[in-house]
Amino acid sequence: MEIRGYRDEDYGKVKELLMATDMYAEGVDTKDALGRKIKFSPDSIIAAEENGKIAGVIYLTIDPWITFLHHLAVHPDFEGKGVGTALIEEAENIAKKANAKWAALMVETKKAEARKFYEKKGWKTVNTNNLMFKEIK
Ligand SMILES: CC(C)(COP(=O)(O)OP(=O)(O)OC[C@H]1O[C@@H](n2cnc3c(N)ncnc32)[C@H](O)[C@@H]1OP(=O)(O)O)[C@@H](O)C(=O)NCCC(=O)NCCS
Repeated sequence: MEIRGYRDEDYGKVKELLMATDMYAEGVDTKDALGRKIKFSPDSIIAAEENGKIAGVIYLTIDPWITFLHHLAVHPDFEGKGVGTALIEEAENIAKKANAKWAALMVETKKAEARKFYEKKGWKTVNTNNLMFKEIK
């Protein structure tokens, strides 16, 4: 398995993966938006590639204050094979390189299994705030 930066040509496979894991956000996860994201911050989308397939992905908002992780998704065909572990470790390494002392992420309340996964990786729930969102025009 190769852990590497996302490229424009990965888009179709990444979209399929996000849809298969119910993580695809209409209007937010467009090819153009992901292209702008990696142009601005090249390490901010990391993919796990296995035999030409995109097995998993994670997005980062890299900041030395708090680095945020988003959209950790492992394709159902690759679950339980260490892909999620490899991606979150890489994301934490990138945060470390950016000198971030903290990292944060949000998990939907209904995703008890994902929460267990993060707890195994040393993450703790600090509050139950919900994400608020606005399109900037
Ligand atoms: C949650 C998710 C990222 C885990 O990725 P994964 O590649 O399957 O996890 P790994 O193989 O690296 O497993 C790491 C550890 O977590 C545990 N784990 C993984 N999925 C688990 C689950 N569904 N329930 C309980 N434990 C789980 C594994 O048993 C393993 O434990 P071990 O290290 O003691 O053996 C993946 O299942 C996924 O993408 N789910 C759908 C999307 C999602 O919910 N994303 C999170 C959004 S916030």
